[in-house]
Amino acid sequence: MSSWTPQSWRAKPVLQVPTYPDQAALEIAEARLSRFPPLVFAGEARGLKEDLAEVARGNAFLLQGGDCAESFAEHEANHIRDFFQVFLQMAVVLTHGASKPVVKVGRVAGQFAKPRSADTETVDGVELPSYRGDIINGIEFNAEQRVPDPQRMIMGYRQSAATLNLLRAFASGGFADLTRVHEWTTGFMKGKNGSPRYEETANKIDDAIKFMAALGITSENTPALRETKFYTSHEALLLGYEEALTRRDSITSDWYATSGHMLWIGDRTRQPTGAHVEYFSGINNPIGVKCGPTMQRDDLLALMDKLNPSDEAGRLTLIARFGAEKVGDHLPALIETVKEAGRTVVWCCDPMHGNTIKASSGYKTRPFDKVLAEVKEFFDIHRQMGTYAGGVHFEMTGDDVTECVGGVSAVTEASLSDRYHTHCDPRLNASQALELAFLVAEEIRGQRAPEVARTA
Ligand code: PEP
Ligand code: CO
Repeated sequence: MSSWTPQSWRAKPVLQVPTYPDQAALEIAEARLSRFPPLVFAGEARGLKEDLAEVARGNAFLLQGGDCAESFAEHEANHIRDFFQVFLQMAVVLTHGASKPVVKVGRVAGQFAKPRSADTETVDGVELPSYRGDIINGIEFNAEQRVPDPQRMIMGYRQSAATLNLLRAFASGGFADLTRVHEWTTGFMKGKNGSPRYEETANKIDDAIKFMAALGITSENTPALRETKFYTSHEALLLGYEEALTRRDSITSDWYATSGHMLWIGDRTRQPTGAHVEYFSGINNPIGVKCGPTMQRDDLLALMDKLNPSDEAGRLTLIARFGAEKVGDHLPALIETVKEAGRTVVWCCDPMHGNTIKASSGYKTRPFDKVLAEVKEFFDIHRQMGTYAGGVHFEMTGDDVTECVGGVSAVTEASLSDRYHTHCDPRLNASQALELAFLVAEEIRGQRAPEVARTA
């Protein structure tokens, strides 16, 4: 690892990175970014790694979620607040289901750059560069907007800073009070989203809060009931941006990415000898790797060697994203590989990216039932193999969008066009996200930590 530097990725083959027409402007923007303050601190990233180590040991559960792609257009306080609100509600439901701490990691405050399946997009005979996320180019289908613009990195940084600032205030300023969060959930149950199945869980949480209050444990006298730890994460796709925000920790002298607490490598850029893996190998943050159907046993072994040579617990989260019909064909072999290699990972389920379909109207969507089916299969496989299903990873929003079909609020294919706002993949709306949390809680309940891990 001695040859690693924040820029050593530049000598490796790189995929999914845009070609900027104005190289000088790119260099100026990257140089500016490299002088900007860090968005997160190394000590916070270490804290998350410790929390994830508890997940790896089976003593905690990971909830990761947020927009597929944040956008400059949706940069509003209400959007951030509504996301955080439903995310906290989900976390409370999952905490109750798991009887374990839930590690909360948003896909937020930096989740801008998107990998694309093709470099260009053709509409009515006009071919233009693909949209790669607001931090790179504009979504509007016109030639000017689609040119990669380095100034967008500066805007992405500033939006991330403002978003993170609000989230930090929400997390510690009383917004995250357990009693309030639970009241939102009971309010939600009174509306069209009510279901006796979820009411039972909600009532149990109610009882637990009342029981604690009777013992004198309230949010007034117990900070843990009114504050929460919340971390950020994103796919670190745009390596020039990440490099500029990579800093040495003043305490340990180790390198950390300071653009977010946890970064992950996408399914399309996880080649063991490629630029993204090179960059990730030298930063000390907790990291994720998306694992899709093309992930081979040898790739996984090479990735674990390169990304976590000392097998540090909490360093590596494997985010399985196979699709409801495919998870059974692929996940057991990967679990077996990790077991045989004697490695420590967090197993997390992304039931979104393998379940994207095109509705007859042309909209990309995801059926709620398929999302749930993949989560259930993920838990079943771990139960059968004696390993710990450590977390879930969702694309979701607090807004009442119509992007995924199904759920108790019953978004139909015909209603997709009503409020379809995503800049990339379809997200669960607030109602679907919370409903899923209730259903995941049923899966976690009773899941025990694996023998070896519990005694570690
Ligand atoms: C994503 O998380 O938005 C994404 C592109 O996922 P994947 O790398 O799993 O395709
Ligand atoms: Co996505």
